[in-house]
Amino acid sequence: MKRGARPLTKIDGEISFEDVSFEYPDDRNPVLSHINLRIRPGEKVALVGPSGGGKTTLCSLVPRFYDPTEGRILIDGQDIREVTLKSLRSTVGVVQQDVYLFSGTVFENIEYGRPGASMEEVVSAARMAGAHEFITGLKDGYNTYVGERGVKLSGGQKQRISIARVFLKNPPVLILDEATSALDNESEQLVSQSLERLSKGRTTVTIAHRLTTIQNADRILVLSDNSIAEEGNHEELLLKKGMYYQLYTSVSEAEKNT
Ligand SMILES: Nc1ncnc2c1ncn2[C@@H]1O[C@H](COP(=O)(O)OP(=O)(O)O)[C@@H](O)[C@H]1O
Ligand SMILES: [Mg+2]
Repeated sequence: MKRGARPLTKIDGEISFEDVSFEYPDDRNPVLSHINLRIRPGEKVALVGPSGGGKTTLCSLVPRFYDPTEGRILIDGQDIREVTLKSLRSTVGVVQQDVYLFSGTVFENIEYGRPGASMEEVVSAARMAGAHEFITGLKDGYNTYVGERGVKLSGGQKQRISIARVFLKNPPVLILDEATSALDNESEQLVSQSLERLSKGRTTVTIAHRLTTIQNADRILVLSDNSIAEEGNHEELLLKKGMYYQLYTSVSEAEKNT
């Protein structure tokens, strides 16, 4: 963090990538090359592309898990290297495939999203995440012990607890990185519904393993060969008959065969 860093202020949720390039420090292959991208406040953007194409890496630059090798990223016009990490990370919520629940109660695991939150606030977040019902069915409700030595929860239940956490945190910017890809069909549907509620009114970048779930995105970006190869909405990209079309038709075939 630079000296004199101040908190991010007046957050509408606009994200700008200005000529951003990136390579991981320990292996000097270019992962992202000269990315220019402006995401409007509240816009729903989907990132697709081949595995290893840099989707997760691109998103990890926003909460500064890594810094660009070149170029800069701004949120609402403020260079993210010039604001405090604390304010940046409270602005950006991330839901990933792997959910981390620590050893503690369900309440504590949700409250982690905003330390000091009341029971009422935790319950309200759990309701919005579609988690309240199964939580109250556990033997000690919100006081049930989870984590390594606690009750065993399904992948979908854990994911809904992690979504409740983000509801509580209430960030204006949201990153959903293959959040449902480890789930079976039924819990995938439940979790997808929760994620849809969560993304309402927030700038959202979704990395989807299933192209069928992102057709309503305002804009789809195809990331390939270190850069954005195509962008547009679902219909526009299908008409182009380019990479998205190919991904979409091959994936639809594969999904038909399962
Ligand atoms: N922590 C890391 N250190 C070094 N290389 C990495 C690391 N994480 C990912 N990579 C490499 O960066 C490239 C992009 O990976 P990633 O962003 O995970 O792609 P995607 O999410 O599109 O599958 C890949 O070549 C991958 O091997
Ligand atoms: Mg990834």
